Amino acid sequence: MQLNELETPALILDRLAMDRNIARLRDRLAGFDVALRPHVKTNKSADVARRIGAPGSPITVSTLKEAEYFFEHGWADILYAVGIAANKFAHVADLVQRGARMTVVLDNVETARALAAFCRSTELTIPVLIEIDTDGHRSGVPPEAPLLLEIAAQLGKSEAAGGAWLSGVMTHAGDSYNCPSTADIEKVAELERAGAVRAAQRLRAADYPAPVVSVGSTPTAHFARSFDGVTEVRAGVYVFFDLVMHGLGVCEQSDIALSVLCSVIGHQQEKGWIITDGGWMAMSRDRGTSGQKVDQGYGVVCDQAGIPLPGLIMQQANQEHGIIVHRDDTSLTPMLPVGTLLRILPNHACSTAAQHDGYHVVAGSSQIEAYWPRISGW
Ligand SMILES: Cc1ncc(COP(=O)(O)O)c(C=O)c1O
Repeated sequence: MQLNELETPALILDRLAMDRNIARLRDRLAGFDVALRPHVKTNKSADVARRIGAPGSPITVSTLKEAEYFFEHGWADILYAVGIAANKFAHVADLVQRGARMTVVLDNVETARALAAFCRSTELTIPVLIEIDTDGHRSGVPPEAPLLLEIAAQLGKSEAAGGAWLSGVMTHAGDSYNCPSTADIEKVAELERAGAVRAAQRLRAADYPAPVVSVGSTPTAHFARSFDGVTEVRAGVYVFFDLVMHGLGVCEQSDIALSVLCSVIGHQQEKGWIITDGGWMAMSRDRGTSGQKVDQGYGVVCDQAGIPLPGLIMQQANQEHGIIVHRDDTSLTPMLPVGTLLRILPNHACSTAAQHDGYHVVAGSSQIEAYWPRISGW
């Protein structure tokens, strides 16, 4: 099947770009003494995950549905990297009883106490990472906070003790997405590393072995100069990359492996608009580049082969309509014929992929070599 035989809009995955991106981070981390625990929330697809690492290798997930799905596809060492809520304990327990090694994350005494009680009553052993906040971006405990040891006090010291046991710390340097330069990403990466290592040292001084120090985001994974004291790195969006990562200087536009194929369905010539059938349902509402130096609207417009058309962006989005213009001057918008196929590069790969049921995979031509389904929901 060829691209021009697809019904639009459709999600296209350029496997060659994806394989290059996967190799880039793998090769970079090979220079450090650190493991990669890829975050599969970006792809939510066993077919994509298989190209990152064989089933059995460690992964990170953002939902228990992902945990369930990847476990059924052969991945058993799973870090659920969103603070656990008590209403999910039973689901985690079910996965553990079926043979998954589930690690959970928390950053407060209440949840630690509740999980410890749950593990006592079910006689389950569940490793726990305390989330550390190294950049004020989101959740977690500051590395120097007394709270760190108060949470630890609720947990067992080692796996041998059974129950909910403290296996270490994790952090996610989300502030790396706001960095004005790659030099700033390096600084955020060092804050991420040093904060996580410091928290682990405090736990070790209190007699918790805390063997795991888990850090990561795509920008910091690519620009950190040191991973000293870190045991594993998590990154997800690096597999596809997107316009936000391009705006940060982490990748080239030609590295972006994901695009949405859409059709020109009409024009408003006097306004300089091309209308397509790819609206926000196909792209998502994510406007992640709006705060960056170059605002890419809802996406950069490429031809059917994936080559950017100079100056064209998807400027507006209705649910099922996209409006494409020349970014500098709408009178320069070329009135591409009705039926023209375009590929739109997304702001945020995770959000755009989440709008679709699967990937139409191409490899350097318009030939579709595979369809890879993906999961969604919770
Ligand atoms: C906890 C956690 N770890 C790792 C990642 C991966 O970061 P990225 O999407 O930059 O690859 C995320 C992304 O949101 C995350 O929330």
